[in-house]
Amino acid sequence: MNKQYKIHPVFMIILLLIFMPYSAMAKPLYQLHVEQAEISDQDLKKSLKQVKKHKKIKIIDNLPVPPFHKRTTQQTTQKQPFCLTCHLALPHRNDERSRTFMNMHSRYIACETCHFRPETVTMTHRWLAYDGIDAGNVLSPRRTLGNIVEKPPETEQKHKAQFKKQVPLAPQPGARISPFYENIPVLLFKETPFAQKIKMEWKDASENQRADIKARLHAPLKKKGPACNKCHGKNKTLLDLKTLGATPAQLKIIQSNTIVRFFERFKKKDDRIRINKLLQ
Ligand code: HEC
Ligand code: HEC
Ligand code: HEC
Repeated sequence: MNKQYKIHPVFMIILLLIFMPYSAMAKPLYQLHVEQAEISDQDLKKSLKQVKKHKKIKIIDNLPVPPFHKRTTQQTTQKQPFCLTCHLALPHRNDERSRTFMNMHSRYIACETCHFRPETVTMTHRWLAYDGIDAGNVLSPRRTLGNIVEKPPETEQKHKAQFKKQVPLAPQPGARISPFYENIPVLLFKETPFAQKIKMEWKDASENQRADIKARLHAPLKKKGPACNKCHGKNKTLLDLKTLGATPAQLKIIQSNTIVRFFERFKKKDDRIRINKLLQ
């Protein structure tokens, strides 16, 4: 009776052969690289040292004296990066000069855009919604939404123009520039099964097991992000800012950023950002 629903076994095998490579490919590239990571004894040793020192940082609210630099609310997004299983939303602390800027960038650039940059593959970058009704989906760049009215400032208005609110590149709050490989996001959110599995393993793990997990998760990652100029420069850039929606005026602002110029000029650890030097 159900004959019309039966699939011929040969046809079934052909179907399987066609779709199998796709299901393997559908894994986010970062996960694939973690699963294939080869860890040396030295990596493991270093990782064990770090894990022994690692402390979960608690942000203390309601301090008796209100801190000078504190936002009234911690900004969180509906979709949480996998990295926040162990790192804070503003994860940069060590480099006193750049940490504020890197933390600022983390609000509109995915961790993986800066930290996952395998040399062997070419990735593209798109806006991914971390918040709102389309959380988890790709977003069109702002420019194509047609809601920018751009008028280059006249020279005499330049002073006023400085204080005009700049239109952000992000098409909506919480959107982040994220890497894609073969049209699939490279990164993981906290709720993906692989991320959940790591979270559970980490929770109950011994120090040695944690060292192994840490080493594997970070084997495909770069310790540092790209140099400022990799995104703010004009040549050989990591991001195609035009495709991400930058108008010619926005592109000019991003490529002539004074603070970036400072970072290019001052490399020594004890160089400090000073207003008079910024104005040079
Ligand atoms: C299961 C916990 C865990 C997850 C998930 C995790 N990290 Fe880490 N990460 C650590 C620990 C532990 C260290 C060691 C330093 C410390 O204690 O913070 C570390 C260190 C780092 C460092 C410093 C360099 C190094 O390798 O020691 C970077 C960069 C980093 N993580 C980025 C990331 C990014 C990006 C993600 C998401 C793709 C991520 N981490 C996910 C636990 C984690
Ligand atoms: C715009 C690029 C950029 C983005 C986005 C970014 N990082 Fe980083 N990250 C860096 C650079 C550069 C360093 C090297 C230290 C520095 O300059 O602050 C770094 C260092 C780190 C470190 C080492 C510890 C420390 O205090 O510096 C950790 C951990 C880390 N990043 C985690 C993350 C996580 C988690 C995210 C996402 C929430 C993220 N990063 C997003 C560029 C970036
Ligand atoms: C992965 C790419 C990337 C890297 C690396 C990067 N930036 Fe940026 N940065 C951007 C983008 C994109 C914007 C524009 C955001 C916008 O206009 O909405 C930006 C904006 C800025 C702004 C302006 C923020 C504002 O609100 O006006 C400053 C300042 C800045 N970056 C400094 C730096 C410094 C300093 C470094 C290096 C230590 C750096 N950036 C590295 C991508 C990057």
